[in-house]
Amino acid sequence: MKKMKLRLGVNVDHVATVRQARYREKVPGMIAEPDPVGFALEAQKAGAHGITAHLREDRRHMQEEDIRRLKREVALPLNLEMANTAEMVKFALALKPDAVCLVPENRQEVTTEGGLDVFGHRISLQKNIVRLRDVGAKVSLFIDPDLKQIEFAKKVGADWIELHTGKFAVVYQNKRRRAEELKRLIEGAHFANKMGLKVNAGHGLHVRNVCDLFVMPFLYELNIGHSIVSRALWVGVRNAVKEMLVLMKEYRL
Ligand code: PXP
Repeated sequence: MKKMKLRLGVNVDHVATVRQARYREKVPGMIAEPDPVGFALEAQKAGAHGITAHLREDRRHMQEEDIRRLKREVALPLNLEMANTAEMVKFALALKPDAVCLVPENRQEVTTEGGLDVFGHRISLQKNIVRLRDVGAKVSLFIDPDLKQIEFAKKVGADWIELHTGKFAVVYQNKRRRAEELKRLIEGAHFANKMGLKVNAGHGLHVRNVCDLFVMPFLYELNIGHSIVSRALWVGVRNAVKEMLVLMKEYRL
């Protein structure tokens, strides 16, 4: 079987979650730690292929300056996760990240399992994807493995999709339900590839479940955050990233 390099995008949001738990107020001269940019630089040294960060509308973890610093200080491609809103599109157009992953942030934007409702927002998605692609960003849509959503991801002009693996992670302990979810992810990946979309995946992945996902074909990149940030507390950032990269070398499809 052909050996493909599966890329790892390290999501640094939860480094900022810890920082914001203490340093919500900005006090001049105070060093607010931990620094998500420092974490990203360590991930880069360990061999990560990209950095992902979500600028939420409520700014609960990453702040605008964090995102600007990631773009400025880290050499790896930056994948900006954001909602499909006028405010966030304006921010992204000024930032010009390498990639934008549009994600749902409120109930109305979410499909049954939790991904973006592409069909329901096809008009505004189509318009914003054109604008984001015009500044050189690849556009990805975070969606469930639902064939209609995948079909519309292509129709609205996305380059990539990121298949939501949250349900796979939640039902992981139940073999029957895990197999059912993997079947949907496999079918989704086949269909997306047929439509000419690149396939990423993410949410809820960690060192104990990630290898079971490797039955999914056409995977290009995994975006992993919480488990790498958590694991880094025990083994350090570089080792946490390297552990995941070693497992990901087993991907063959
Ligand atoms: N991909 C997307 C689109 C996400 O929103 C998140 C969570 O921020 C992740 C991947 C990473 O999920 P986790 O932190 O569970 O690894």
